Amino acid sequence: MVSARCQSEELVLARRKFQEAEATLGPFHPDLTENLEALAKIYESYGESRKAKRCYARILKIWEKVLAPDYGLKCFLADILGIPLSKQPPKILYKPQRLIHLNENLLLGIGENRICFIHPDDPGLCIKIDRPWDEGRYNTRRKRMKRVFMPWLADFSSNREEARFYWKKARRLGEIFYLYAPRCYGIVTTNLGPGLVFERIFNDDGTKSLRLDLHLKRHPEDAEHVLELLKELYQHLTETGLLFYSWSSPNFVVQKRKAGDRIVIIDWKSESRPNMDFPAIHLFRSLAQRKMEEKFLGFLERYLGPIIGPIPMGSDLES
Ligand SMILES: Nc1ncnc2c1ncn2[C@@H]1O[C@H](COP(=O)(O)OP(=O)(O)OP(=O)(O)O)[C@@H](O)[C@H]1O
Ligand SMILES: [Mg+2]
Repeated sequence: MVSARCQSEELVLARRKFQEAEATLGPFHPDLTENLEALAKIYESYGESRKAKRCYARILKIWEKVLAPDYGLKCFLADILGIPLSKQPPKILYKPQRLIHLNENLLLGIGENRICFIHPDDPGLCIKIDRPWDEGRYNTRRKRMKRVFMPWLADFSSNREEARFYWKKARRLGEIFYLYAPRCYGIVTTNLGPGLVFERIFNDDGTKSLRLDLHLKRHPEDAEHVLELLKELYQHLTETGLLFYSWSSPNFVVQKRKAGDRIVIIDWKSESRPNMDFPAIHLFRSLAQRKMEEKFLGFLERYLGPIIGPIPMGSDLES
């Protein structure tokens, strides 16, 4: 009886805290995440999964709105007419607690769709920023217009896409997901626009974990070991039902640890998204799985083949 009362007090308090935060910050402030997540956890602990799901859906809605500029009718018409879209960072729709200044000294890596910086407050974290309109591979005039009619294609905001994955599938998988993935710590507001904060991957000796191709270039003698680590990673993907298609070296880092080395995937935006005009393979799990396997084997051939020759595969992959 006492514990039921404590529980309901806990819920009332969490609800009140959320309502107060919402009244102060507004309905689409990323700082509401913490309150909503706390509320969701309480609902989960009572077995009220539908209410918890609603909290998570609300978090995702806020993140989606905050991370990507609106591609509405105005932008679509501008694209049809060939009027260039602004290169300015997206308008901030909420009042941030703080604006983080990023500069080239903090640059960590440049992808085809995002730029990654070291977090100025904590070198153990990094911040990914979407490239401006027309500067990303998935953010061209043609791709934006095409996506209006084919919404299953890659999002022009990779941050929005990856946020969706982290709040849906990764959240449902729970801790097991992070065996081969960095944690995501939320949204920050920067001079270059909103950014997603991730854990940076380091080796146990404090050095930076290298991209797979750079690691192999520096340590070709490690190739057999890397092959074993990649097989472990692939097994994890199949066991957890994750479908990973972006098999290219910049998305993988080799982490050296006393507890056992691992290969971490640092870019999950394309999970379950083959990014094809007609992604029929995705209608059938076995075809999607085979596509991932083909890509994985091609990846091994490309990066390990030149060092160790024909790739010896275990029976587990020879289906
Ligand atoms: N968690 C991380 N730890 C360390 N470095 C990272 C991390 N996440 C990203 N990076 C660096 O930033 C680069 C770009 O990141 P990411 O692959 O997410 O960008 P992208 O533009 O979405 O990728 P793509 O070119 O595959 O579309 C990576 O190649 C890597 O150098
Ligand atoms: Mg990438």
